[in-house]
Amino acid sequence: MKPEAFEPKILAFCCHYCAYSSADLAGSMRLQYPPNVRIIRTPCTGRLETEYFMKALEKGADGVLVAGCLEGGCHFIEGNYCAKRRVDYIRDLLAEIGIDKERLRMVNVSAAMARPLTEIITDMVETVRKLGPNPLGAARTNPTLETA
Ligand code: FES
Repeated sequence: MKPEAFEPKILAFCCHYCAYSSADLAGSMRLQYPPNVRIIRTPCTGRLETEYFMKALEKGADGVLVAGCLEGGCHFIEGNYCAKRRVDYIRDLLAEIGIDKERLRMVNVSAAMARPLTEIITDMVETVRKLGPNPLGAARTNPTLETA
C-alpha cells in the first residue's frame, strides 16, 4: 500500500477589509490556489493575540498565515503593525523551541491584490509541504512523539 502524501493544513487569518476581500476577489476572478488553506475572517489583524497563533499550531495546523492590509492602510490605524510585532514575537519563540519560523508568516495585501495573494498562499503551502508535518500537531495526534 502506498503511503499518503503529506498535505499541509494552513490556517489563514485574513482581515476583513483587505486580505479577505482579496481572497474573495480571487474567487470571482477564478484564480486558483491550493485547497489546503482554511480562511478565518477577522475584523483586523490587530485583533489577533499571540496565543491564537500558538493554539492553531498546537491544534494541528501545519502553518499559519496572517494577512492584513498594506502598511499604512489598516482601517484601525495601527492594527497591522501590532499584528506584525506579535507574529515576529511568536516566530522568534518558534525558532527557540526548534520549530521552523516559516510555519508562521505575515503578509500585507490590498483588496485588489488577488493574484499576489494566491501566489503567497501557494508559496506558503509549498514551503510547509517541504518542512513536513508540524511537530507540535504531530505530537498531539501521535502519543509516541510526545516528550516526557
Ligand atoms: Fe486590515 Fe487592520 S483592518 S489589518
